[in-house]
Amino acid sequence: MANSSTAIRQPLGATKTLAVILAAGQGTRMRSALPKVLHKVAGLSMIGHVLTVVSQSVSTAASVVVGPDREDVADEARRVLPDSRIAVQADRLGTAHAVLQARDSIGTGYDVVIVLYGDTPLVRPETLSRLRDAVINGAAVAALGFEARDPTGYGRFIMAGDELLAIREHKDASEAERRITLCNGGLMALDGRHALELLGRIGNANSQKEFYLTDAVGVARNAGLRTVAVAASEDEVMGVDDRMKLAAAERILQDRLRENAMRNGVTLIDPSSVYFSHDTKIASDVIVEPNVFFGLDVSVESDAIIHAHSHIEGAKVGRGVHIGPFARLRPGADLAEGARIGNFCEVKNSKIGAGAKVNHLSYIGDADVGANANIGAGTITCNYDGYFKYRTVIGEKAFIGSNSSLVAPVTIAKGAYVGSGSVVTKDVPEGALAIGRGQQVIKEDWASRFHEAMARRRAARQ
Ligand code: UD1
Ligand code: MG
Repeated sequence: MANSSTAIRQPLGATKTLAVILAAGQGTRMRSALPKVLHKVAGLSMIGHVLTVVSQSVSTAASVVVGPDREDVADEARRVLPDSRIAVQADRLGTAHAVLQARDSIGTGYDVVIVLYGDTPLVRPETLSRLRDAVINGAAVAALGFEARDPTGYGRFIMAGDELLAIREHKDASEAERRITLCNGGLMALDGRHALELLGRIGNANSQKEFYLTDAVGVARNAGLRTVAVAASEDEVMGVDDRMKLAAAERILQDRLRENAMRNGVTLIDPSSVYFSHDTKIASDVIVEPNVFFGLDVSVESDAIIHAHSHIEGAKVGRGVHIGPFARLRPGADLAEGARIGNFCEVKNSKIGAGAKVNHLSYIGDADVGANANIGAGTITCNYDGYFKYRTVIGEKAFIGSNSSLVAPVTIAKGAYVGSGSVVTKDVPEGALAIGRGQQVIKEDWASRFHEAMARRRAARQ
């Protein structure tokens, strides 16, 4: 095996890097029918986070090692990163054995091979770049380490200056070695020219009879190659293998998303009560009040105000729109500039035109609402007959009186007016008034006579 040179071999941009992501664990401590790596953090599977980070930073190709019959994990990997390659680890014989299942990919020739775990979703792109650069700068193996608050269970880094001599698994470590707090985060970068040979030399003579990836360090040193440690924060390398860690990962990621939003000019009055998804797009000068939840696929343009206790998913929120308090936007809600969605209103699969108002207690589903229309309190679009969904079309500047039911398919044309309490089943022409309710009847003196008659009846019984 040749010695690595310490010079940079080629410009960083041209470095061919393969990411191998280990995802063969079921994660029994999750107590779940779902494989561990498919559990979500900020709305995206853990494997999805890992693939996103590698594709944003270091990798030119990715190979995901899954357990047998794990089409679900393979599908998710390809959904997030369509050219992900899939390798299968039939028997769980250890982390080095898992990496070797991707030998066909590794063997095609990469400058750097980076190994990541599918259950370690919080690693940052900058950290991956530093790990890769350690190999580009001449290390045959670079391992990511962190100072552990509690090192129990982790592999320990045996250091000599800044050289990494070995990684000792907790179960194989001596008493003295167990006092070391610099621990193995699990991620490792290997020189692509040596990777297969180093991995192939790893044996399983240890307490767990497993092929340890961590032994790549010792094997490389025996071959006279350089091995180094790269530092990361403990948060970044947190492995999620139970529901408590899943919740902890969610907290860490939410804090990052909140901080990002604020750095980009979003006001969060109470950041810890606002929940984002990994893909939430929110422009500067948006104000978000406390207790707001952003589900997947939401964009919010500038100057919008999201009042307290609102739940938003799959929605486009235009410039200067006000939502809530207590509003719900469901997928397909598309609100144009200056629209108002008030308290206890739900909007689904509907376009709300510029300046239109849906301010109180309404359900607007499968509708097109024109600009500056006014939807009165308690208006309901009756969009479903138990079999099919139908659309309601409301023209610009139309006025829908309170407590009306619009039975779709139905069109209320531009500038038309619907009297309060109407059940509208037929189209309303432009500029017309529709009233669809019982006629009011007045009976003069009826109440007075009723009270007198009842009072007489009660007196007769006493
Ligand atoms: C591993 C490291 C340890 C490190 C710790 C950090 C080894 C030998 N040990 O230990 O030094 O401190 O991570 O969290 O690498 N996997 C497979 N196939 C296998 C075995 C594992 O795909 O045959 C996957 C697991 O699903 C998991 C990852 O590899 O995503 C790590 O495996 P795990 O069993 O959690 O290793 P640890 O004992 O935690
Ligand atoms: Mg682990």
